[in-house]
Amino acid sequence: MRWRIVVFVTALKVLLFPAYRSTDFEVHRNWLAITSSLPLRQWYTNTTSQWTLDYPPLFAWFEWALAQAAWLVDPAMLDVANLGYASDSTILFQRGSVIVSDAALISGAWFATRREPEPRRSLAVFLLVANSGLLLVDHVHFQYNGLLLGILVWSLALVREGRSLAGGVLFAVLLNMKHLFACLAPVYFVHLLRHHCRGPHAMRRFAVLGACVAGVFAVSFGPFVLAGQLRQVLGRLFPFQRGLCHAYWAANVWALYAAADKALAAGLQLLGRPAAAPAANLTGGLVGVSSFAVLPDVSPAAALALVLAALAPCLVRLWRAPDPAGFVHAVAYAAMCSFMAGYHVHEKAALMVTVPLALDAIRSRPAARDWLFLSATAHYALLPLLFTLAEYPIKVLIYGIYTPKA
Ligand SMILES: *[C@@H]1O[C@H](CO)[C@@H](O)[C@H](O)[C@H]1NC(C)=O
Repeated sequence: MRWRIVVFVTALKVLLFPAYRSTDFEVHRNWLAITSSLPLRQWYTNTTSQWTLDYPPLFAWFEWALAQAAWLVDPAMLDVANLGYASDSTILFQRGSVIVSDAALISGAWFATRREPEPRRSLAVFLLVANSGLLLVDHVHFQYNGLLLGILVWSLALVREGRSLAGGVLFAVLLNMKHLFACLAPVYFVHLLRHHCRGPHAMRRFAVLGACVAGVFAVSFGPFVLAGQLRQVLGRLFPFQRGLCHAYWAANVWALYAAADKALAAGLQLLGRPAAAPAANLTGGLVGVSSFAVLPDVSPAAALALVLAALAPCLVRLWRAPDPAGFVHAVAYAAMCSFMAGYHVHEKAALMVTVPLALDAIRSRPAARDWLFLSATAHYALLPLLFTLAEYPIKVLIYGIYTPKA
């Protein structure tokens, strides 16, 4: 059964090859080109394309590795100046690379569920590898979330089994591939500190853990430090000028805040006292720092404070009772906090909740209920991402077939 699920889902991904691709396709083509044809010190500085490299170094190395295979397929895609290049073989290669990198998710699902009885195990594999949001975002819109979330699933499975050190190191690798996962770091930190670093050898365990994590960061950032590029890398990773709300909003606290602002502005207009600031333009696209008409602007620090406030009860509980069995839930909760109140959140960040939570959903009824509600709403909120008419039936079918299966 499990194999049939994987084969079926993979076949579906192949059928999606000709579907609509977002600008992320060109983003990743450009990253292939940058990492394979420019020297390291230009990876984070070259601006030939507007889609500059803004993921951490280990992801850049992943692109570099892919590019080694891309040479054999169509070297023209690796030319930095070849903006918007999308030959058939390039599409085949890039789409194919997403499918191949999904091996991380599939193997993670295999590993995490290997002790579950059937048919629960097959259900878990289905929930993980056929995630409708992931199919739409990765295999239509175009991204590599299956790879990243697959590493997260591996890490969660290890921590849940009490192998905290391996799980923690894997999480450090993940952080160095996509720093957005930093919102889960407090949960990992408290759990590792309280669960892994205890007993008679607590100090030694802490030192080993610290050395391993530092080693991962050294491998990742070391070459860029040596090339004198650390500032450029960090500047690209943390571009705070991007504004509170992403071009297409995540359905979170700030969407409500922006809606309240619009309503207040309209109300003032009706009363004949229009707000001083121009009407808020929050959907500005590429950059565009948003400004509110009536309500005060929200700084990154204020958003962070709200996230941490929401996360605090969970951290206190982890501190008091670090329980591997509850770890997946804590991580999903942390992802939820940052989705709900974080600064410049993408709607796709909801996948960081629905994918891990599937690991718990097969184990308890309340978790299954949470998972069903969250996946139904979060994946529904992803549908507008694919706005082209041709993809309308596909996205509705993928969403509709997956959601009630739980
Ligand atoms: C980016 O790389 C291209 C191709 O090597 C080069 O022509 C251009 O000058 C570089 N631009 C910057 C800003 O480094």
